[in-house]
Amino acid sequence: MKILKTIDELRDARKSISSNVGFVPTMGALHQGHISLIKRARLENEIVIVSIFVNPTQFLPGEDLAAYPRKDEADKKICEMCKVDYLFMPEISTMYKEEETLVKASNRSYILEGKARPGHFDGVLQVVLKLFGLTQPTNAYFGKKDAQQLLLISQMVKDFFLPINIVECEIIRESDGLALSSRNVYLDEKQRKDALLLSKSLYLAASLLTKEEKDVKVIKNKIYEVLQGLDVEYVAIVDRSFNELEEIEIGNSIILLVVKFGQTRLLDNIWL
Ligand code: PAJ
Repeated sequence: MKILKTIDELRDARKSISSNVGFVPTMGALHQGHISLIKRARLENEIVIVSIFVNPTQFLPGEDLAAYPRKDEADKKICEMCKVDYLFMPEISTMYKEEETLVKASNRSYILEGKARPGHFDGVLQVVLKLFGLTQPTNAYFGKKDAQQLLLISQMVKDFFLPINIVECEIIRESDGLALSSRNVYLDEKQRKDALLLSKSLYLAASLLTKEEKDVKVIKNKIYEVLQGLDVEYVAIVDRSFNELEEIEIGNSIILLVVKFGQTRLLDNIWL
């Protein structure tokens, strides 16, 4: 595995590749969720590029940019074990100059996650577009865990006619159901236990659906019942274009929720 730090190093590496490239962008502190994306990229491509870059433009003032977990050495080992070909770990000054062309996500970026974090997705799209330009991947891998991010990136690829296939990857969970996240380390013991209610409420919703219950109001109420006592930021049931639904459409519905544990916002969702 080659570790690349500069634009020139990455450009030179990319020039030497004529086969399929699978690309997995991350912010590091790698866990099994990231690893599942890397492994899939490994299976489906001749060359795998992973990036680790804690992107400042997607953090709002007051968010956890400075405190965001960093585990460079452990991450390098994980990438090595997953047989990554190139690991790109740039500095902020490598990725951004003072005057920048900005990317503005579509209006769908200002609901749900974007309502709590206005401008967050502009920063995500900006860095992902830069990384796509550098790595020019055949396939790029994103987790369904960050549903809105995934769908906004897919939209950007379509809108800018980028010749990149976006691969949607399943959510990886702890054995007790908690979706893996780099931010889970912020939870104390009680919060960690309460956090189980997120997946529990989503599983309950899915089980209602198998009993033919498709009414969004009924399903939302059941979810809120499970989450009682927690600081729920939102529960939304939307289609893949982020329109709110009245009735679940199998194959085109996502239930998304965010619960706050102190400063930590935990996201979870289920694609129906
Ligand atoms: P990060 O939070 O590090 O996540 C990198 C990728 O891993 C994303 O596609 C995310 O959806 C996926 N992922 C995280 N947890 C997962 C889980 N439990 N199961 C499956 N996939 C999971 O998302 C970002 O970084 C950044 O916004 C980025 C796209 C790199 C742009 O800076």
